[in-house]
Amino acid sequence: MTLQKLFPTLVYSARLTGAARNGLNERLLRECRQLSLDDAAGRRWSAQSYPGGYTSYGSAHRMHRMSPTFAALERALDRHAARFASSLELDLAGRKLAMTDCWVNIMPRGTAHGLHLHPLSTISGTYYVKTPRGCPGLKVEDPRLERMMAAPPRLAKAAPENKPWVVLPAEAGGVLLFESWLRHEVPANRVAGERISISFNYSWF
Ligand code: NI
Repeated sequence: MTLQKLFPTLVYSARLTGAARNGLNERLLRECRQLSLDDAAGRRWSAQSYPGGYTSYGSAHRMHRMSPTFAALERALDRHAARFASSLELDLAGRKLAMTDCWVNIMPRGTAHGLHLHPLSTISGTYYVKTPRGCPGLKVEDPRLERMMAAPPRLAKAAPENKPWVVLPAEAGGVLLFESWLRHEVPANRVAGERISISFNYSWF
């Protein structure tokens, strides 16, 4: 008997080993906080679209072009994006996989980010700057979910690859990468500390 695992959904996680050692994470944390103070347009956007929290998604979403600190993060992430593309066996046809967007998210207690995907991108991901104990991870959804008409539920102790949802832990200094079509959300932050992350997209040109 043979059991094949076809059409897997790959999710890449790694630690940015240099980020803590060379102070990059510390500088990113300072700049994320400073940006939320300086970016009045972003605070207005967040009041409408990111209640209780701050995101620069609608205002300063190319931070890798605005700040040498974020540009250093981009260089560190490029290596991981390339490795992930290689694991996916993407045929990039000689084109370059490059960061297009990079923005800041600050989630105090009570802030959530509902289900979404990242249209017009190839690979998306998040680098975690500050993750207080007990803060939410990243919840990803089986992309076939809307086709499951008479599918029974899965056992509570089912293996991750057989579950319809999986929560990937968010850990400061860590990076998660996934294909941009993978629907995901951040459940509400239930702890007092701010959860701070930097999200980004890569496309091939
Ligand atoms: Ni997202």
